[in-house]
Amino acid sequence: MALKIVILAAGEGSRMHSSLPKVLHDLAGQPLLQHVLNTAQALNPQQIYIVYGHKGEQVRAVFPIEDNIHWVEQAEQLGTAHALNQALPLLDDTDHVLVLYGDVPLISENTLTRLITATPKNGIGIVAAEFADPTGLGRVLRDDSGNIMGIVEHRDANEKELQIKEIYSGILTAPVKYLRQWLTQIENNNAQGEYYLTDVIKVAVNTKYPVIAVLARNPREVEGANDRFQLAELERSYQLQAAHEIMRQGANLKDPRRFDLRGKLSVAEDVVIDINVLIRGEVKIGRNSYIGPNCILKDCVIGDNVVIKANTMIDQSVVGNSTTLGPFARIRPGTQLAENAQIGNFVEIKKSHIGAGSKINHLSYVGDAMVGSQVNIGAGTITCNYDGANKWQTKIGDNAFIGSDTQLIAPVEVGEGATIGAGTTLYKNAPANQLTLNKREQQVVEGWRRPQVRIQPTSTLKE
Ligand code: UD1
Ligand code: CA
Repeated sequence: MALKIVILAAGEGSRMHSSLPKVLHDLAGQPLLQHVLNTAQALNPQQIYIVYGHKGEQVRAVFPIEDNIHWVEQAEQLGTAHALNQALPLLDDTDHVLVLYGDVPLISENTLTRLITATPKNGIGIVAAEFADPTGLGRVLRDDSGNIMGIVEHRDANEKELQIKEIYSGILTAPVKYLRQWLTQIENNNAQGEYYLTDVIKVAVNTKYPVIAVLARNPREVEGANDRFQLAELERSYQLQAAHEIMRQGANLKDPRRFDLRGKLSVAEDVVIDINVLIRGEVKIGRNSYIGPNCILKDCVIGDNVVIKANTMIDQSVVGNSTTLGPFARIRPGTQLAENAQIGNFVEIKKSHIGAGSKINHLSYVGDAMVGSQVNIGAGTITCNYDGANKWQTKIGDNAFIGSDTQLIAPVEVGEGATIGAGTTLYKNAPANQLTLNKREQQVVEGWRRPQVRIQPTSTLKE
């Protein structure tokens, strides 16, 4: 008996009012469908079938081709039962199928494993949950002894059924052999004129097959994203959970409600993350480091004892131990900062190596540069790395001192221990241990006066 997973993702998502198909809407930096797919893969199924339809090619294009993923087209969206029916011919009678919905992204591996374990071999298992406000969702109908009798959609429910708080998540598992038979008995005489997969429960009960429900421990797992408000709510609950996870690893989040993770973060002990920090891609932060308010960290490794002050952005870079950055520093892809480096405000660094203990404290652009250790780069220094066609390297040796407002016209080299006078335009290499500057004269203009504000004659014209 092999496990096959079918993910229903063909719907338009009309309640989103969007040109983007619903399952491509973003949750924590990934399309809704990607979340479902990740969880599905974690269960190690033999195959995954994704039923796609509305703007299907656009949906397919987002996902890489994978061996165990098959795409099945549902040309017309006639309901969830009809959607599953498109995939069933590809499955074997001996298979067990788990059906997931592409717009129910936070279902956990744990709940699905419990579902698979609890479901009798010849029956149906569903995931249900208790909702204080079940508006819009299918309700689980039970008889007086608590046996599941069926599911009624909100739109088709009567007054009494609307009072039911136990809702259906859309997730079920059943043997393929029986599903084939049950699905032929489903009709579309309901409020939406659709073939509802939920009706399969009634059919199974009527033909005396057992139906069980597993309750999701956390109701957020089964929340769907049908409109933008629900999507935003899901985002918040995802983020709060992510914040808790980070705090369990030993980080101090100043406000777990003002933290956003759109990727993967691992933290060592005693990391402090101040408010409104956004993490993207894969980020690692070493012990005892501080991330100030409003920082954006993407695909980077931050060492131990690092201080990143407010409004700093770091992208695809490595930050060494005990460095300080910001406020308002921008570290662009391909940068490596060695330990104890100091990068101050309004400094942009791109594809450069900055040696240990070197300082670039104010208003500078350093791109395509190899900077040695213990270098001091004065305020307003710029590497002129681009000639309009190509990028060129700048090399600065250990212990060099670059005076403020220097332009380094690359390719150019500054020797070890060299000093560059303030305001120099360096277009030839500067020798080690010497002072290099441009020839300039300071002038005093005798008798010069500042322009005065001219007194305008008042108008003589009558109003
Ligand atoms: C569905 C359930 C409802 C449950 C709720 C949980 C049905 C009939 N109702 O309602 O009981 O409480 O989910 O979130 O199943 N889809 C297709 N093809 C179609 C129609 C839908 O692939 O023809 C896909 C959609 O892309 C979506 C999923 O099936 O991912 C669910 O469809 P949706 O229209 O969102 O159903 P709900 O009204 O939310
Ligand atoms: Ca839905």
